[in-house]
Amino acid sequence: MPLFEHHLFICTNERDSSASRPSCLPEGSKKLKSAFKDAIKEAGLKQKVRANESGCLDQCEHGPVVVVYPDAVWYGKVHPRDAQEIVQEHLLKGRPVERLRLAESCINSDRCPHRK
Ligand code: FES
Repeated sequence: MPLFEHHLFICTNERDSSASRPSCLPEGSKKLKSAFKDAIKEAGLKQKVRANESGCLDQCEHGPVVVVYPDAVWYGKVHPRDAQEIVQEHLLKGRPVERLRLAESCINSDRCPHRK
């Protein structure tokens, strides 16, 4: 069995509605995971790409959030209709979908201007 070339981590964390920060599950991340699974299968990448649910990726204000490794490309506000484009452009052609990428200044930083 070949090693996977990419792993997608799709945040499916859910917080209580009274929490100070939002979470990805209410933004539709379960449907997003299903859309990625379908797109990966359609592209014939099941042996090369793994899409997994993850806990909070600490980019909660940008949900639903997806990170692609080993490329370390972070996507935010990803809609199920975007899954096909990410698979076709990023995973097959090596061209990250720029319009969905999170700004580097938001990643792993308390200074993200969107952070609550
Ligand atoms: S809840 Fe999804 S990134 Fe925090």
